[in-house]
Amino acid sequence: MTELIDPHCRKLNYLRISITDRCNLRCLYCAPPNLQIPKLSHSDILSYEEILRLVRIGVSLGISKVRITGGEPLIRKDIGNFLAELGRIREISDLSLTTNGVLLRDHLESIRAAGIRRLNISLDTLKPERFKQIAGHDYFRQVWDGILAAYHAGFSPIKINIVAMRGINDDEFADIARLCFSYPFHIRFIEYMPMGNSPLETARQILAPEIMNILSAIGELVPVERKQHDGPAERYRFKEAIGEIGFIRPLSHHFCAQCNRLRLTASGQLRPCLLSDAQHDLKTALRNKSSDAEISDIFLMAARFKPHRHHLIENDSVKSQMSLIGG
Ligand code: GTP
Ligand code: 5AD
Ligand code: SF4
Repeated sequence: MTELIDPHCRKLNYLRISITDRCNLRCLYCAPPNLQIPKLSHSDILSYEEILRLVRIGVSLGISKVRITGGEPLIRKDIGNFLAELGRIREISDLSLTTNGVLLRDHLESIRAAGIRRLNISLDTLKPERFKQIAGHDYFRQVWDGILAAYHAGFSPIKINIVAMRGINDDEFADIARLCFSYPFHIRFIEYMPMGNSPLETARQILAPEIMNILSAIGELVPVERKQHDGPAERYRFKEAIGEIGFIRPLSHHFCAQCNRLRLTASGQLRPCLLSDAQHDLKTALRNKSSDAEISDIFLMAARFKPHRHHLIENDSVKSQMSLIGG
C-alpha cells in the first residue's frame, strides 16, 4: 500500500475533517461577534457523499484515525446519518468528534451509535456570565449539561479544551483544573494561536510554564507517560485526581516533529499544517470527476509539502479562520 509519509519521515495516518464553517457560538479567539466572516455557500461546502469518498481514498493510503470538527459539526443537517456511514468504514480504528457542546446532549445517541467514544469539548470558563462574554451566547448550562450527559453515557476520554487568555479566564485556571478531582476528564490548557482576523492581541497569550505555575498551588503535577499515539498534549496528573491535566503548547514547545495530521477544510481543501495557509484543492478534483488515483495523488502531494514545522513564533501570520479548518 502507498502510504502518506512526508519528507521528514512522519507517517500521516490522521485526517481531521471540518464538515461546516458555521457555528452556533462566536468565541473571542475564533470568530468573534463583531467580525464579518464570509460564510461559505451550500455549494462551496463538500457534501457528505464527497467527504465519504475522500475518507475512503484516505483510508486506502493508510488513514486510520478520523476526527470530525467544524465550525460546530453538530449543527450540520443529518450529521447522525453521516457519522453512521463513517462508522461503517472498518479501516478507521479511531473515530472522534470535537464540539462546543451546545447541542451535545441531543446528539449523544447517534454519536455513540456511530462508534465514537472520544469527545473533545471546549469550555473556557465555569461562569455562565463570562461564558456569554467569551462565546457570544448564553449557553453555559447547555454545554455543562452536555458534558455531564456524555460522562454519564460512558464516553471516554472526555477532553475539555480551554484556550488560555490573559485577563479573560486566567483567574479560573485553578478552578477548572480542579474538575479532575471530581471527574475523569482530561483538562487541557491550550496556548492561544492568533489566526485569521482574531481581534485578541498576542498580549493575551499565556504560555504553558505560567499556567503550570498557577496550577502548582493545587499540588504537584506528576507527568503521565506518553503513549505512542498520544496527541500534542503534554499530560500530567495530580495525586489523588481521577482525571488528567494537559498542556497543548504550539508556541512554547511546538510538537511538529510528532505531527501525524492532515486537515480537510469545509470547502474541500487539504491542508498539511494547521498553521500554514498552504492547501491542496480536492473539491475541484472531485467535481471534475477525477479518478480515485488522481485524488490519491493530491493526498500524496499534500504529504510531500507538509512543512517541517510551523513558523507562528517568527511572526508568520495565518490568514485563515480557525472555524474553516477546525483546530
Ligand atoms: P487526539 O489526538 O485526537 O486525541 O486529539 P488531541 O488530543 O490532539 O486534541 P485536539 O485535536 O482537540 O487538539 C486540541 C487543540 O489543540 C486543537 O483544537 C488545536 O487548537 C490544537 N492543536 C491540535 N492539533 C494541533 C496541531 O497539529 N498543531 C497545532 N499548532 N495545534 C494543534
Ligand atoms: N488558539 C488556540 N486554540 C483554539 N481553538 C480554537 N481557536 C483557537 C485558537 N485561536 C481550540 C478550541 C476548540 C478547538 C476546536 O480549537 O479550544 O476547542
Ligand atoms: Fe502539525 Fe503544523 Fe500543528 Fe506543527 S503546527 S503540529 S506541523 S499542524
